[in-house]
Amino acid sequence: MESCWQSEFLLCWPDMDRQLASDLLASAGKAVFLRGWFHSFRSMGKLGFLILRDRTGFAQIVVQDKAEVKRLSELQPGTILRIEGEAVASKEAALGAEVINPKIEVEVPITEAPPVEYYRPEIPSDLEHILDHRSISLRNQKIQAVFTIQAELVHAFRLFMHDQVKAVEYFGPNIIGTSSEGGAEFFTVDYFGHTATLAQSSQLYKQIMVGVNERVFALMPFFRAEPSHTPRHLAEGKQFEFEMGFFDHWHEVLDVQEGLIKVMIKHLETHCKHLLEVLGVELVRCPEEVAIPRITFAEAQEIFFKRTGTDERSEPDLSPAAERELCAYAKETAGTDLIFVTDWKREKRPFYSYVSTDNPELTNTFDLICAGTEITSGGQRCHTHASMVEGIEAKGMDPSNFTDYLTVFRYGMPPHGGFGMGLERLTMTLLGLKNIREASLFPSDPKRIAGNRIKANMVFGGENVRNEIIRLLTQHDFDFKHLEHDETPVSSEETAKVRDMPLAEGVKALILRGKKSKKNVQVNIPADQKVDMKAVAAVVGEKCEFESPEVILERFGIEVGGVPPFGSLLNLETYFDEKILEKEHASFNCGLRTESIQMKPADLVKVVDPKLGSFTKE
Ligand code: 4AD
Ligand code: MG
Repeated sequence: MESCWQSEFLLCWPDMDRQLASDLLASAGKAVFLRGWFHSFRSMGKLGFLILRDRTGFAQIVVQDKAEVKRLSELQPGTILRIEGEAVASKEAALGAEVINPKIEVEVPITEAPPVEYYRPEIPSDLEHILDHRSISLRNQKIQAVFTIQAELVHAFRLFMHDQVKAVEYFGPNIIGTSSEGGAEFFTVDYFGHTATLAQSSQLYKQIMVGVNERVFALMPFFRAEPSHTPRHLAEGKQFEFEMGFFDHWHEVLDVQEGLIKVMIKHLETHCKHLLEVLGVELVRCPEEVAIPRITFAEAQEIFFKRTGTDERSEPDLSPAAERELCAYAKETAGTDLIFVTDWKREKRPFYSYVSTDNPELTNTFDLICAGTEITSGGQRCHTHASMVEGIEAKGMDPSNFTDYLTVFRYGMPPHGGFGMGLERLTMTLLGLKNIREASLFPSDPKRIAGNRIKANMVFGGENVRNEIIRLLTQHDFDFKHLEHDETPVSSEETAKVRDMPLAEGVKALILRGKKSKKNVQVNIPADQKVDMKAVAAVVGEKCEFESPEVILERFGIEVGGVPPFGSLLNLETYFDEKILEKEHASFNCGLRTESIQMKPADLVKVVDPKLGSFTKE
């Protein structure tokens, strides 16, 4: 085989003797040698069909020997095989060819069954289970297709920015000294004893780089400490960053964004046909010849009001419902799933936004909404030192934290602007995925770090919590009664009746939320008492309110009414009212609304180890 190094261009990197699944058809009639992962095996009488996975796809190997069929049917998915055989054309095989008369050798034996059935076309588990076994579930053909498409989006972005926009790629820092977007949604890290920030975006650095190269782009990580549990927020993701200087009109930034998204979609249509077929999805509609509609924020609010009767015209932001409706409007009136919304109110845009010369309450900013979800924010930026300082101060921030950044405005910055487009948001909306976690290889959110569930003391789900409580009480050798009963209502009085126990010995387990930090804490009080929020605020250090039942279910897998006073198991700071200790018994739901536990209060306090205090009022 000719070495790639000898050819004029480096066209491929050959596997010296190995053929790949994608080579089979061209190799028909020839001997082949394959290496890959045992994916699945189907036996039909004396015949067996082994599917071997490699980086190009799935090769079908036909086995006729009875003993061999038995041996192969015992292999586990993931076993690494070397196969010699003969390639033949076959109409039935997915690749148009298969391998016959194989000699199959196990290269790396595997004896354990995988924890997730990734080898099926669709994994028969929910997203939580799929994420719990992320490193293995990524081998599933559909999941693999999502991330191969994502890689193609990045490739198309680089080609477009480099070849058409003539922008220069830059590589900015991720550990930085201050918040890049303002607000409170940033993570801090201990940096040699100092506090540093994980970049919320590459905003400051792309603007600095405009002062060097005029047009710049990057694919940069972002980190957002948003405690939100929505299907479209991650704590870590990637942004396509772009920034340009010297435009005549700031809408040229929208032109670049429009050109980019159209090129990206076209690239997928041309290069990812097969992967899109594997996924069975249709890409969002964005015909090349149709201009993506551009409407102002005020117009968007009017359109939403006219079409739905819901009046959000005095709101500073668009609701998710309005975003969906605007895309429906774009589809009906222009035949595209995308729409630009421009001229947002200053109060909702970051400190660096350029204030409109026509109206000081508005900014030269835009969002691009795709199939009902924001995928991009961007706009024109302040470019004089005075206006940037004013912008920082207007948001209550300290200009002295932005020294590097502010310096560039002292030494000449042209009118400029750009945008940040979320890689995962784009992947999700283009492919019609329901949850952004499906578009992140190892998603981080308030429940997971890089795909892994945060385990620190945290037990998730009513039944798991019940099991763990019983395990703990048994381990401590405590006396306790475990009761099954009808579903308890939320009211304490009714609950006492259902349990057939005195109201006063019931423990009310409340999950509260800090108004500022949004952090959850648990406060436990006797069921016949009322919680004293002032006393709670004094120990927690901020005012608190009740967490919503939806969030409690989402975050802890427990229905309100079933929450036990075991905040320690839920990874929550836990407080007990001292009056609980005065009763003969403590009874409480143990994670489920149909099961309760009755035990000695002193034992309960011993096992939960809460902070004690007075948290009730008359
Ligand atoms: O709207 P954002 O916060 O804007 C910026 O970061 C600006 N620096 C952009 C600019 O150039 N003016 O973020 C931009 C995009 C969002 O539209 C979204 O696609 C994605 O980044 N994004 C998130 N994606 C998932 N989870 C999150 N928590 C995200 N935050 C932002
Ligand atoms: Mg935004």
